[in-house]
Amino acid sequence: MSIQKEIEKRKTFGIISHPDAGKTTLTEKLLLFGGAIQTAGAVKSNKIKKHATSDFMEIEKQRGISVATSVMGFEYMDLNINILDTPGHKDFAEDTYRTLSAVDSVIVVIDVAKGVESQTEKLVQVSRMRNIPIIVFINKLDREGKDPVDLMDEVEEKLGLNVLPLSWPIGMGQRFKGVYNIFEKQLVLFNPHGQQLDEESITVTDPTIENLTEYIGQDAAEELIEELEMVTGIYDPFEKDLYLKGEQCPVFFGSAINNFGVKELLDCFVQIAPNPLARVAEERTVIPSEEQLTGFIFKIHANMDPNHRDRIAFLRICSGKFERNKFYHHVRKNSKIRFSNPTTFMASKKELVEESYPGDIVGLYDSGNFKIGDSLTEGESLQFKGIPRFSPELFRYVINKDPMRFKQLDKGLRELMDEGVAQLFVKIMGSQKIIGTVGALQFDVIKYRLDHEYGANCDYQAVNIHKALWIEVNNKEEFKDFEKRKMKDIAKDKDGNLVYLAETAWSLKMAQDNYPGLVFHESSEF
Ligand code: G4P
Repeated sequence: MSIQKEIEKRKTFGIISHPDAGKTTLTEKLLLFGGAIQTAGAVKSNKIKKHATSDFMEIEKQRGISVATSVMGFEYMDLNINILDTPGHKDFAEDTYRTLSAVDSVIVVIDVAKGVESQTEKLVQVSRMRNIPIIVFINKLDREGKDPVDLMDEVEEKLGLNVLPLSWPIGMGQRFKGVYNIFEKQLVLFNPHGQQLDEESITVTDPTIENLTEYIGQDAAEELIEELEMVTGIYDPFEKDLYLKGEQCPVFFGSAINNFGVKELLDCFVQIAPNPLARVAEERTVIPSEEQLTGFIFKIHANMDPNHRDRIAFLRICSGKFERNKFYHHVRKNSKIRFSNPTTFMASKKELVEESYPGDIVGLYDSGNFKIGDSLTEGESLQFKGIPRFSPELFRYVINKDPMRFKQLDKGLRELMDEGVAQLFVKIMGSQKIIGTVGALQFDVIKYRLDHEYGANCDYQAVNIHKALWIEVNNKEEFKDFEKRKMKDIAKDKDGNLVYLAETAWSLKMAQDNYPGLVFHESSEF
């Protein structure tokens, strides 16, 4: 089969949500449809959140489990669909941001009672930076929740998405009767804990009170008709092009635990969601159908067992065909590399893969060759964009407690940063090292791993930093002055980029006002 045919068969997406909205449950139901798993309860990922944040060993163990479910492939209607799992725990938000660089679209799950929550807001913001097409699934309609119209307004306002419903709920909680599938013009009746049988979907192309009463009773029929009229009045009609540009966001309603509304979502997804898309590199835009292989590493998972120091690097294929045992060009190292045991992820099984295509995610066993963001090609020098680092939220000085083991500490820190566990900043004055993380948990993880895997002993010391900002210098004279005055607050990130470690929001504002020739960016990619 040609590469183009393979591309047309693939859809790679991520599901994002605030913890507990139902992401794991929805993932599982999608996999059940695809026959990738046989029983409910088979997807164990994302249970990280259920544990106290101090229990990081338990969390790392769970992360171990989640390697197998980091990518879940299944077949549906002759398509190969890859779901990329995103950690629900906010301390792993960076992992999620990076995973979003490897998807072509996302489904956002929202709890009908809770509405748009903080984590969802952040993740959607990141998706929107790349104009990723987004579908929203409003979950838990079997419970009482917010009024659907209010909820649509909330999604529009808080997430900045131009929403339009493609299904509409009939009642809610105890009164929940089902949904009207606007996309397919079907009435779908709710059956708790059902299998969503085909006979429960009744085609009603012309929803009138007479046509609906028979199935849902007169009161519900009247209410639905009124709401549908309002909905078609308020919202623009669906346009696939606008969705694909990230400018229109279809919304579905359902109850994942009851397997309700999931099939409508999936059936629409396979029709409208994009196939593997072009990817932008520093040098040029890469089109998936190009003959030559290109891809980038977006995630690295290390084995915490010191006797098995292998890591798995996750490669997103952007173009061409990936083949087992073929030599590829490791761009950063300018070296040749081949893989004898590349794996693919079909649900919870890992399987050896002979060849893969754009949109696929391949697991590469790695003994320390890769960093996040590395590219593989057939010789071309390419650096993919879209894997930015964001300002961490917590900062601490790293103190070496054992001067004899300076080298081990250095190596350990470097490798952990390559894996993307946290970010390291080295002050230009005095070379003090500062670690920045999204959550407090990472500090424990780093200390533990430095000790167990590298035999290095570190401690932390408080440091007063509000934010790390990447500096774009448009005026060299201004930078010289800034450097002179703010020397102690300037550092370099792991790639040698200049970063301003602003102590307070006020000092950042002052810097912005006083130095118009410098731009302070909240992400490393600008
Ligand atoms: P997450 O991955 O987004 O964090 O959420 P997850 O799927 O783990 O779901 C969070 C909780 O919400 C789970 O309950 C799950 O059973 C429940 N849930 C998911 N979908 C629905 C739904 O459509 N209706 C209702 N009423 N509940 C739903 P839990 O008690 O926390 O966990 P569990 O013991 O059921 O696994």
